[in-house]
Amino acid sequence: MTPTEKLRALSEEHSAHNYHPLPIVISDAEGAWVTDVEGRRYLDMLAAYSAVNFGHRNPRLTEAVRRQLDRVTLVSRAFDHDRFGPFVTELAELCGKDMVLPMNSGAEAVETALKTARKWGYEVKGVPADKANIITFEGNFHGRTTTIISFSTDPDARDSYGPYTPGFRTVPYGDVEALRAAMDAETVGVLVEPIQGEAGVNVPPSGFLRAVRELCTAQGALMIADEIQSGLGRTGTTFAVEHEDVVPDVYILGKALGGGIMPVSAVVADADVLGVFKPGQHGSTFGGNPLACAIGREVVAMLRTGEFQERSRTLGAHMHERLGRLPGDIVREVRGRGLWAGVELHGKARPVSERLMGLGVLAKETHDTTLRLAPPLVIERADLDWALDQLEIALKG
Ligand SMILES: Cc1ncc(COP(=O)(O)O)c(C=O)c1O
Repeated sequence: MTPTEKLRALSEEHSAHNYHPLPIVISDAEGAWVTDVEGRRYLDMLAAYSAVNFGHRNPRLTEAVRRQLDRVTLVSRAFDHDRFGPFVTELAELCGKDMVLPMNSGAEAVETALKTARKWGYEVKGVPADKANIITFEGNFHGRTTTIISFSTDPDARDSYGPYTPGFRTVPYGDVEALRAAMDAETVGVLVEPIQGEAGVNVPPSGFLRAVRELCTAQGALMIADEIQSGLGRTGTTFAVEHEDVVPDVYILGKALGGGIMPVSAVVADADVLGVFKPGQHGSTFGGNPLACAIGREVVAMLRTGEFQERSRTLGAHMHERLGRLPGDIVREVRGRGLWAGVELHGKARPVSERLMGLGVLAKETHDTTLRLAPPLVIERADLDWALDQLEIALKG
C-alpha cells in the first residue's frame, strides 16, 4: 500500500463517513499550494470553502499566532483579556456597526443570529411570545445544527433529523414577491446568503438584495446577511452585499475570520439589536478567546488595506472571462463574482474534480453537476491561468 492508501484506509475505517473527500492526503501547505504525503504538489482551488482566503499559513497570521501563543490563549469570558476589546472594536468598525458577539463555528454564529432576531422581536419589536417567524430561502446552507437544518431544503442535510424546529418560512431564492407574501407583523428576520455558496455559487437576480433590505425596513424585520462564505474579500468587496449597496442589520461572519487557522465567527450589529443580550443569556467557552482575537484582529487589519478585495476583483474578472470561454457543450453556465465560481456542467462534476486532482489542481463538486472554484485570494495570476488550463483538459475527459 502507498502512504496515501494506508492513511486513507485509517480514515475510512475510523472516521464517520459524513464526507466524500478526494483520495488525497495533505501534509503541508503554503500560500495557494498544498503538498501530499508523497510529495506531490497541488494548487488549492477551494481554499477550505473560503476559510483560507488569505492563503495557507499566511505569514502575517502565523506570526500573530506565534506572538499570542507566548502570552495567553484562553481565559473564557469569565474574565476580560487585552485582545478582546480591540478585536470587537476593530471588527465592528470594519462592518460599520456598534457591537460584536464572537463565537467559533459558522453554524454557532448563525444560531446566535437567529436567537438575536427572536429575542429582539419579542423584546424590541413587541411580537407576542413564541409567535416570531424568520424567513429563509430555498437552497440555503447555513450550517448543520438541528435548528439550521430544520429550514434546509436539501434532503441530505435535513432528512432523518426531525422533529424540526418551528418558526421558519422558506421561499424561493431571488423571488421578491414570494418574500413579500411570506412576511407579516410577526416576521423578526430574513436570513439570506448574498450569494448562495453550497447551493452552487448562486448569484441572485440584480436588485434582489436591495428588495430584501426594503421589505425588512418596511416590515420592521432584521435583514440578516450570512456572509460566512461570501464575505471578507471573496467576491471582490469586503462584503457581498456591497455589490447592491445594501447594509444589512446583522452580519454573520466566520470561515476567513479565523485566517484558516482556527474557527472564529461573529455576529455583528448595532447596539439596538445586539444590546438585547444580558449576562447569562448566551455564550460560548471559546468564543472571543485571546488566540482567536489575535488572529481576527490581523484579518481585519489585512482587509482594511483593500488589497485582498482588489486581488479578488481583478483576478476574478480574469477567471470569469476565461471560464466564459469554456465549451458550451460541456459547460451549461458559469456563476459567481470575484474569485468565486460555480461551473455548472451538463454532466456529473465528480469525475472532473477527480481528473483535476490527477492534473495537480484541487477543486470540489457541490451537489451533482456543479464544480466550485474558490482559490485563496493570494493566488498568483500565472498559477490561476495554469489551473484554468488544467480545467480545460479535465473537462474534455
Ligand atoms: C453561508 C454559510 N453559512 C454557514 C456555514 C456553516 O459554517 P461552519 O461549517 O463553520 O459551521 C457555511 C459553511 O459552509 C456557509 O457556507
